[in-house]
Amino acid sequence: MKETDLRQLLNDMTLEEKIGQLVQLPGYFQQEGAVTGPAGDMGLTQNDLRFAGSYLGIIGAEKIKKLQTAFMEQHPHHIPLLFMADIINGYRTVFPIPLAQGCTFDPGLVEEGASIAAREAAAAVIHVTFSPMADLVRDARWGRVMESTGEDPYLNGQMAAAMVRGYQGDSVQQKGNIAACLKHFAGYGAPEGGRDYNNVELSPRTLREDYLPAYQAAVDAGCEAVMTSFNTLDRIPSAANEWLLKEVLRKEMGFSGMVISDWNALEELMAHGIAADQKEAAFLALRAGVDMDMTSPIYTRNLRQLVEEGKVPEQWVDESAWRVLTLKNKLGLFEKPFKDANEKDENALLLSTAHRQAALECAEKSFVLLKNEDRMLPLLGDEAAFIGPYVDSRYLNGAWSIFADDQDTVTIKTALSHYSKTRNIPTAPGCPINDPDQPIMGFQKHFSPDPCDPEAALRDAMILAKQAKKVVLCLGEHRECTGEAASRGDITLPKCQLRLLDEVSKVTQNIIVVLFGGRPLDIRPLKEKAKAILAAWLPGTEGGNAVVRTLLGECNPSGKLSMCLPYCVGQLPIHYNHLITGRPFHGDHHDGRFGSKYQDIPNDPLYPFGYGLSYTTFSYSPVRLSAKSMTKQGNVTASVTVTNTGACFGTETVQLYLRDLAASVARPVRMLKGFRKVALAPGESKEVSFTVSEAMLRFFGLSMRYASEPGDFDIFIGPDSHTENKARFSLE
Ligand code: NOJ
Repeated sequence: MKETDLRQLLNDMTLEEKIGQLVQLPGYFQQEGAVTGPAGDMGLTQNDLRFAGSYLGIIGAEKIKKLQTAFMEQHPHHIPLLFMADIINGYRTVFPIPLAQGCTFDPGLVEEGASIAAREAAAAVIHVTFSPMADLVRDARWGRVMESTGEDPYLNGQMAAAMVRGYQGDSVQQKGNIAACLKHFAGYGAPEGGRDYNNVELSPRTLREDYLPAYQAAVDAGCEAVMTSFNTLDRIPSAANEWLLKEVLRKEMGFSGMVISDWNALEELMAHGIAADQKEAAFLALRAGVDMDMTSPIYTRNLRQLVEEGKVPEQWVDESAWRVLTLKNKLGLFEKPFKDANEKDENALLLSTAHRQAALECAEKSFVLLKNEDRMLPLLGDEAAFIGPYVDSRYLNGAWSIFADDQDTVTIKTALSHYSKTRNIPTAPGCPINDPDQPIMGFQKHFSPDPCDPEAALRDAMILAKQAKKVVLCLGEHRECTGEAASRGDITLPKCQLRLLDEVSKVTQNIIVVLFGGRPLDIRPLKEKAKAILAAWLPGTEGGNAVVRTLLGECNPSGKLSMCLPYCVGQLPIHYNHLITGRPFHGDHHDGRFGSKYQDIPNDPLYPFGYGLSYTTFSYSPVRLSAKSMTKQGNVTASVTVTNTGACFGTETVQLYLRDLAASVARPVRMLKGFRKVALAPGESKEVSFTVSEAMLRFFGLSMRYASEPGDFDIFIGPDSHTENKARFSLE
């Protein structure tokens, strides 16, 4: 529709119709759809439903076509509904969770995954996905770390932008593309104590320097919508934060699309204690700039009265309705209200061979090899017994894979029968995934305790462990232990799994752990007792194939940690790019009392950000600089030569970090500013270069101006965030 026609449409609409556009109903109003938040009676009348702007969580071409047709027929202006849903890491073909996708350090791969998710979802009539989640995370207690691509602003920005490109392509109107809704604006990844929905305290500088860049990258990539966060920021819930939504998001960051609240967040303004009643909540949210109210009755039941009483200018309603209509128009819904809905496409696309192959590749490239002593991996043949609750588990998707079917997931056991030579690899569960006294409550169902009898399972497993040359232990957290509303104060493995590890380690030293789960766990016992550890996260539909191929050496791990693995929960929150403190601790606990340290645990994580091994080894030359200093207009090229010093082909992610040695405000010990993947045959060397420009040295200085300051900088280039391979240069 032409913009002038769209304007005319808006002018022709009644106030009630315009308010309707601002309302998103939960799918359960149609006895359909995923329930992804507290479900309640919104107290709406049939009339309220007639004018709604959008539905959340309903899927399926046939079903939605019928709903759309009936809805448009009865609507006075025949305005189509917008269908939105959480397509997070795939629709039916499930890719690894976003935290694992971050470990690929491969935005191209992530973009492809998002575009496959979009194609599948578009065929099932999803118009908008609530993704990417660009929230920076530093606290593994928070269950939603699984939905983030990690602890680094630069990496998160690269990944968020890649996802937006993947979902939206060149235009959201084109077949197979859907609109991206960036979330959760802003700072949702920093809840106090790692407890979901909790308040957030961030200094203005930390907010801008560390938390906003990834959202900005998604806005720059053109995301069409933004979702507000549940949390308060400086004591103001985001859904009522006019400064955040208007000054920061729209004016400073240049976002012009639609803003939607999170599930029931407008109603929650009363629980936050900043709105006395529903009417005030409606006023605050609309004034702040929330265009669409997700699944709460606040706008429908209050805006009309507020306008009629002259408390809310109708202009505010018009502006928000305009943004909703504009998004519908960009998607081409006025001409094609079903957009790409097509039952045939749905059948052909979902879980197609090409989609599964892409999910397999992404999973393989997300695995992080944490330890590999005595060449435990790759396996040479069928010498290992496979033990553990994850050997035959289909729970390899993250908690957000609500539209996937676990029956489509390839388990490790199934993959073993396909890839191993003897087809007779011994396997046993060894124990349940969770301790029997730890029932799991999922989004849509409760998981009853695993039927496996712990004592009998352990006995059977020990028979296999005693006979095998090596034991592959497939351990990890249940997938519902991470995701929304899944914060935990204890990030160790379930007791039954630790007992299994303990017992197996009494009969063999040759233990390989494949570790599953959606958060960095405290894995000290694994590090102590296993010779090899492969972090496989929650790898998705092709998880079993990806794990088995990796263990057998059909592919070589190349993932790097997108979030460090803490030593223990007491270190949290932890991140590599911290400030140095006035009393930096240099690692020697006998060196006096007064350093910034713990008395009982180290400062360093167990494995740092960016860390990950390969079946081969790489060496780095010292860092070479093209010049020792540069002007603001100039740049410096920093290079290293990377050599594959091992015996097999491998891919290394070469990482560039910068440190500002003295500035007007304290600066992080280092910050990731670039990375390159380099594939090398045994003995092969390649030069890897980075151009360091003045723009990369900017930060929010004393006056909060984003600018660089002259002085000395260290450039680090190496395999992870702890590298000491560095050179110094100065900015004139
Ligand atoms: C609440 C979650 O915070 C958000 O991420 C999600 O997109 C919505 N529910 C819709 O399911």
